[in-house]
Amino acid sequence: MLRSALLNVMVQAAQKAGRSLKRDFGEVEKLQVSLKGPANFVSAADHRSEETLRRELEKARPGYGFLGEETGRHEGSDKAHTWIVDPLDGTTNFLHGIPQFAISIALVRENTVMAGVVYNPVLDELFTAERGKGAFLNDRRIRVAARSRLEDAVVACGLPHRGRGGLAEFRTEFASVQEQVAGLRRFGAAALDLAWVAAGRLDAYWERNLSPWDTAAGIVLVREAGGFVSDLDGGDDVLDKGHVLAGNEPLQRDLLRLLKKAAGH
Ligand code: IPD
Ligand code: CA
Ligand code: CA
Repeated sequence: MLRSALLNVMVQAAQKAGRSLKRDFGEVEKLQVSLKGPANFVSAADHRSEETLRRELEKARPGYGFLGEETGRHEGSDKAHTWIVDPLDGTTNFLHGIPQFAISIALVRENTVMAGVVYNPVLDELFTAERGKGAFLNDRRIRVAARSRLEDAVVACGLPHRGRGGLAEFRTEFASVQEQVAGLRRFGAAALDLAWVAAGRLDAYWERNLSPWDTAAGIVLVREAGGFVSDLDGGDDVLDKGHVLAGNEPLQRDLLRLLKKAAGH
């Protein structure tokens, strides 16, 4: 498959970091039984992955800025372009030996996501998209699902973190969506939730209180797969607000209405 130079850079970085994450994932399964547990090991794997991604991306585009979950923001000489990177999305899954985790890389220009790569190294599933050029899983073009009725839809969500509030609000939203849809899921890796909406595996997905590295790559994947993405007010402010809703046009619209009603506006 012919990819642009930009996507090639992103894919090569993701695959390089992915190889070492996959090796570390094999180790983590052995560490489950140790008394100390694998937490420190996982945190080291997470940092290693970000180091690899930053090194590879900076080598290819020296002036671009970089925002990574583990090392924060690094300004570049080119103020218009920033990489937004989650070196390991789905840490809890990784820690528990559940193979639902990914590397997420996005390139943002001004405030627009230009390209996104989400890579699950265990399944060797590489989701790529570039603005105006479509979305792909490995070398196959992907599209959001065609199901248009809530009663047929399988919808993924996130759960609030223990102790960080938002539980009552979530339960109200969950109850009102659950009454209408065919099934609800919680997979635990936001970047993959969005990639799976793009691939038509999930009909829709919503979650609150995310960070830009959780959603940036997924946003362009869903849009290039023909889907709709908004914040929970229906606007385009996902990266800043941290709340996201994605799906095909009718489901995104109906869920937005439902979620707004549940939130009391
Ligand atoms: C988390 C995952 C999870 C979502 C959390 C995120 P991490 O990212 O995407 O699905 O519910 O809010 O923080 O910590 O595994 O990179
Ligand atoms: Ca994350
Ligand atoms: Ca992470």
